[in-house]
Amino acid sequence: MTPRVLVPELLDQLPANAPAAVRSRRDLRRVNWFMRNAALIAAAGRRHWPGAPPRRLVDLGAGDGALARALETRLARHWPAVTVTLVDRAALAVPPATGAWQVEAVRADATGWLAAAPPDSVDVLVTNLFLHHFADDELRVVLAGIARAARLFIACEPRRSGRALAGCRLLGLIGCNRVTRHDARASVRAGFAGRELSGLWPVAARWELRERPAGLFSHLFVARRRS
Ligand SMILES: C[S@@+](CC[C@H](N)C(=O)[O-])C[C@H]1O[C@@H](n2cnc3c(N)ncnc32)[C@H](O)[C@@H]1O
Repeated sequence: MTPRVLVPELLDQLPANAPAAVRSRRDLRRVNWFMRNAALIAAAGRRHWPGAPPRRLVDLGAGDGALARALETRLARHWPAVTVTLVDRAALAVPPATGAWQVEAVRADATGWLAAAPPDSVDVLVTNLFLHHFADDELRVVLAGIARAARLFIACEPRRSGRALAGCRLLGLIGCNRVTRHDARASVRAGFAGRELSGLWPVAARWELRERPAGLFSHLFVARRRS
């Protein structure tokens, strides 16, 4: 397996309201549908959250909140009273809450937000297509912050595999723009394989860790604190 390669993603360099960025964020909904990421995260949440329904869910690198909405659609029946915090460093137009869950948006860098979060203040923390933005050294810091704040962590990332790279070629066929196509390839090269995230997780003894390929193109990591 080739090592992770990080190259800057175009979406991260465009102003949030640039037409190509707005379009690419819309494309991300199609990419997520293609990868089945909301379904994978929701299923992992149902399987691994212990006991009474969670009350506080955080989505780090949440983008425009579309993934959190998709989770609400799948989970609100089982988790009826959730307050969701969407954290993203970009200034994004997040639609107002309309469903069962309360939603708040915070514009912040994830690392700074985690450093300020009180210990054990989050029931479920999710990330989708986010961790691959970080080099391993930065990831250790981000994951340590998550382990301090959250009881259950679920991450869905691009899988660093030949099949996922081949899948990127299909994105033009479903209408994704140049930014999305470039960033998809970059994301796969920076994605994960094997037990790479488990290896970066702190204090593994106090956690149950699961890491595996999921769907056709995704890599799923779940960390659950032992009670
Ligand atoms: C590929 S997008 C994924 C968005 C969303 N999770 C989804 O699945 O649609 C990555 C997001 O991470 C955000 N991001 C990247 N680095 C960040 C950081 N250090 N702190 C907070 N947000 C960050 C970007 O602004 C972008 O919205």
